[in-house]
Amino acid sequence: MRWLSSSLGKKYVMALTGFFLVFFALAHMLGNLSTFGGEAGLNAYAEHLRAFPPVLWAFRAALAGAVILHLFFGLTLYLQNKAARPIDYACKKNDRTTFSAQSMVWTGLLLLVFIVIHLIQFTFHGLLPSGAIIENTAAGHFNVFAMVSTSLSSGGLNVFYLASVVVLLLHILHGAASFLQSLGATNENTFGAITTGGKITAFVIGLGFVLVPLSVLFGLVK
Ligand code: HEM
Repeated sequence: MRWLSSSLGKKYVMALTGFFLVFFALAHMLGNLSTFGGEAGLNAYAEHLRAFPPVLWAFRAALAGAVILHLFFGLTLYLQNKAARPIDYACKKNDRTTFSAQSMVWTGLLLLVFIVIHLIQFTFHGLLPSGAIIENTAAGHFNVFAMVSTSLSSGGLNVFYLASVVVLLLHILHGAASFLQSLGATNENTFGAITTGGKITAFVIGLGFVLVPLSVLFGLVK
């Protein structure tokens, strides 16, 4: 595992875990769209996710592992870069790499705060407005649709979710560009095309995620 101590090894791990996390975000965003199928649609989707507990738990373990590795190596690389250049550049404004790297650390840490709060709310059912948890689905599980619509009807929580999606968008936008550099994609033609593809993916994910909170805000989903 000596290659892991090199910057390149760490960047590979960042790129691969980042790719997996973007895949999860895309899948989660698409799943959230079943909210537009009303109570029956979202609850049926949530029941499906729980249908095979070993698969669900294996996926959750992979997800947790990817988040931990991404966070650990991201912070390590950031601190290593900082230590290698203890005195900041005099003209920081034009240093795109520094800006990109720094914004990635801050958007990444904000996302971590969001994910912790999001899990406390929608997975462990804490910090939710009253009336958000109702145990009334046919299978005897709680009503996921009621939890989402009641929670997002609170103005504060709605803004919190919208702002978090903007942070996610910024993080994936920068990530999409640095991902290919990390994997050593040097061909100019493919580099441009794949970077654009990454940016489009980021906007699709961001747009898909804001649809649910915005629809609750405007009374389209109740
Ligand atoms: C903005 C709108 C979002 C809505 C309405 C939403 C909704 C939900 C719901 C309802 C659950 C629980 C599913 C269940 O237990 O049946 C959930 C879980 C989760 N969400 Fe979100 N989510 C949103 C955004 C995000 C974002 C931006 C991320 C991170 C990139 C994220 C990451 C997660 C994770 C990691 C879980 C736990 C998955 C699991 O339990 O296995 N969510 N979300």
